[in-house]
Amino acid sequence: MPFVEIIPLDKCQEGAGTFVSIEGKELAVFHLPALDRVFVIDNACPHAGGNLAGGDLDGQVVSCRWHQWEFDLATGVCTHSDRARVRSYSVELREGVVWADLPA
Ligand code: FES
Repeated sequence: MPFVEIIPLDKCQEGAGTFVSIEGKELAVFHLPALDRVFVIDNACPHAGGNLAGGDLDGQVVSCRWHQWEFDLATGVCTHSDRARVRSYSVELREGVVWADLPA
């Protein structure tokens, strides 16, 4: 799958989610300097569509504000049930820009 340019890293909030809409997808980008990591996941919570970019963070776990389901940003797996997950994409940083491997 081709990598797609998502957002310049300096446009991302640090330690929080940033909403990005690109190529028909609504994404949440998390720039976590404390972990030296960047994650890209689908923005819509799989429970009922909550805005995960606006969720609360604990390390690399985001908590949806609607009903507090929590997702590991690296795997997308819900910490309460591994049957629930949000899509987490492979990420590369290229010259200060976040790219992600988005399916066609
Ligand atoms: S919509 Fe996210 S936990 Fe319910």
